[in-house]
Amino acid sequence: MPRLIIISNRLPVTVNKKQGELIYHPSAGGLATGLNSLDETLDKIWIGWPGQALEDKWERESVKRDLAKDGLVPVFLSEEDIELYYEGFSNKVIWPHFHYFPQFTSYEDRYWAAYKEVNQKFADVVIESIEPDDIVWVHDYQLLLLPAMIREAFRDISIGFFLHIPFPSYELFRMLPWREQLLRGLLGADQIGFHTFDYMRHFLSAAYRITGYEHYFGKLPVGKRMVNTDVFPMGIDYDNYAFPDVEEDAQTGMDRIRKQTHGRKLVITIDRLDYTKGIPNRVKVFRRFLNKYPEYKTKVSLVLIVVPSRSNVDQYRDLKTEIDTLVGEFNSNYGTFDWTPILYFYRSLNFGELTTLYKVADIAMITPLRDGMNLVAKEYIAAKEESKKGVLILSEMAGAANELYDALIVNPQDMNEMAEALKGALEMDEGEQRTRLEKMQLRLKKYTVKNWAEDFINEQMRHMEEQKGENTNLLTEQDIQELIETYHSAKDRLIVLDYDGTLMEFHPDPMAVVPDEELLSLLAGLKAQAGNHVVVSSGRDRDTLDKWLGPTGIDLAAEHGVWVKMANRWKSAHGVVNAWKKDIRPVLDNMVERTPGSFIEEKQYSLAWHYRMTDKDLGEKRVREFRDTLLYLTANLDLQVLEGNKVVEIKNAGVNKGKAMLNWLSERDWDFIIAIGDDHTDEDTFKVMPPKAYTIKVGMAKTAARFQLVSVGNVRALLERLV
Ligand code: UDP
Ligand code: G6P
Repeated sequence: MPRLIIISNRLPVTVNKKQGELIYHPSAGGLATGLNSLDETLDKIWIGWPGQALEDKWERESVKRDLAKDGLVPVFLSEEDIELYYEGFSNKVIWPHFHYFPQFTSYEDRYWAAYKEVNQKFADVVIESIEPDDIVWVHDYQLLLLPAMIREAFRDISIGFFLHIPFPSYELFRMLPWREQLLRGLLGADQIGFHTFDYMRHFLSAAYRITGYEHYFGKLPVGKRMVNTDVFPMGIDYDNYAFPDVEEDAQTGMDRIRKQTHGRKLVITIDRLDYTKGIPNRVKVFRRFLNKYPEYKTKVSLVLIVVPSRSNVDQYRDLKTEIDTLVGEFNSNYGTFDWTPILYFYRSLNFGELTTLYKVADIAMITPLRDGMNLVAKEYIAAKEESKKGVLILSEMAGAANELYDALIVNPQDMNEMAEALKGALEMDEGEQRTRLEKMQLRLKKYTVKNWAEDFINEQMRHMEEQKGENTNLLTEQDIQELIETYHSAKDRLIVLDYDGTLMEFHPDPMAVVPDEELLSLLAGLKAQAGNHVVVSSGRDRDTLDKWLGPTGIDLAAEHGVWVKMANRWKSAHGVVNAWKKDIRPVLDNMVERTPGSFIEEKQYSLAWHYRMTDKDLGEKRVREFRDTLLYLTANLDLQVLEGNKVVEIKNAGVNKGKAMLNWLSERDWDFIIAIGDDHTDEDTFKVMPPKAYTIKVGMAKTAARFQLVSVGNVRALLERLV
């Protein structure tokens, strides 16, 4: 039975030492509280840091034993690890950067060094604790390098990753000097989950621009694997907040608070101390509101709960001082003998206090400047299950706003809008409160944290099955076995291979894709086997192909079938002309001028416009723009416009790779044929092949081929097995 292995920086329990004694208490923050409420359907173990630097060997052993009873495995960090990896790289680099606070990012190499080291420390514990058929699930920004590190030790294990914070736009992400290593670490996973589509979109864009991996409907071919990305908005344990099991009867607790606050309207805000949460802004909004609508003075109080967090990081300490000052000034300026406008608590609440506050609060004002999800907003809505009274004001910058659109959604930078929303909330009639709450509750009840986790794991398992070739055209191990058998029992074999994207990875400079030794010996090996006839069919010009592959003695087809080389002699297709080039060239020149990074490749009978080095969106826009012009210009010239992988080619009509293939197909009755290609232009090859041929498309796009492979790595591995 596979187990679920959860790995997060912080365990759901934190160890504290008080007068030499070890004390355990629940950890704060969305990740720990959310995941901890997961149902125990799968056997699970949880690996993470217990939240304290424990240097003493005896203490470590004792903590290890205590935690093991609950299926928890500690990763011990030293004081230095905490300073450089946790406070440093995690919370002074990634946290601010990913939350759009680049002004707080510390570009320090020693933080990066520690981040790598501690990720490896986690990897060591994980590798010791897992079995090959376990399902591994890594969480959050502190462990971005971990998936690749685990993958190195367990090549085929199933690894998921979930990012609980935003993934920033490429423009911001690219500023990090370690951007590529971070992405490659993450891409060790089989599945990467995000709270919202925007985060996923940003990730895919960064992955494409930085590593060159292009996705097909959210799936990225990485080496021989496919990495799935998807959106899984994290939910909460709904019933836990709707019907809390607490010591003090909720009604008594609420009555007590109402009495203590003289029945005033209560607006609550609950956050960890964090500059991303926009706490000072909220205080300022309250001031603006009271100034604009003084009739509300003494009638409403703001309950400001700030939960201590990361207090060794400068920005957090500064923020604490800022909030203290703001609140102090506020209360001294506005307060009266019997009205404290802001009830400010700097501490963490226990579950009973928290749920009672949710229940009693007339309004929750949750207005982070950026927040991956924000569970407090969801918990507040659930707590209103029975009363159906309460209003949520929610920042559009919180991931939760994508689901809770019946809240009063505000821009957290727009003070006026927020002040008006507060007034609107205070004046909202109960009918409207109920309607809005019911809609949001319906969503939260349906998609709880349990559904979220199940969804993630099920999708990961489905994806793994898909990778094995089940339910897709992907070439399975069984197909490969069959293919090899047919290959060996055949006497006359035709092997047709495209070059770029099939035998060789793409490169921004096409002339840099010179065949490597491994490929040359692979082709020579194939050719040397009795009965084999090998053809490389490419869009490249014949001189380049001849120079690169001629020495192997294999047959060639160049310029998408304009030229074929059989038995060492080149011949051109019938009726090809090139007088048209002088009319078309100026149009392509114009495209190059307007499109930085693009260039023209002139072949004997065709012109190709390449845009691999151009921004992807700009390249595609230009293709759309020019397609019509080119089609119009070529209409009477018996030319065709071919769209390849980051290239548009204009060439003689009626010539294509498929037509060229007829030269070999008509030669004899082959008893084994394999044709592999990645591009649109290879579809012509697939289409002319007899039904029993093994036609294989590289990549996941739609195809006429019978089978698909993910990458160049897969193609080479297959050919090696034939040799
Ligand atoms: N929370 C808590 N104790 C408190 C206040 C809050 O355990 O005193 C919990 C709260 O119930 C919620 C989590 O901390 O589940 C905060 O998660 P959220 O996503 O809102 O913010 P994060 O801390 O992840 O930035
Ligand atoms: C956020 C992060 C979590 C983190 C939590 C508390 O929710 O996404 O990964 O655990 O804040 O922060 P801390 O630094 O105390 O672990």
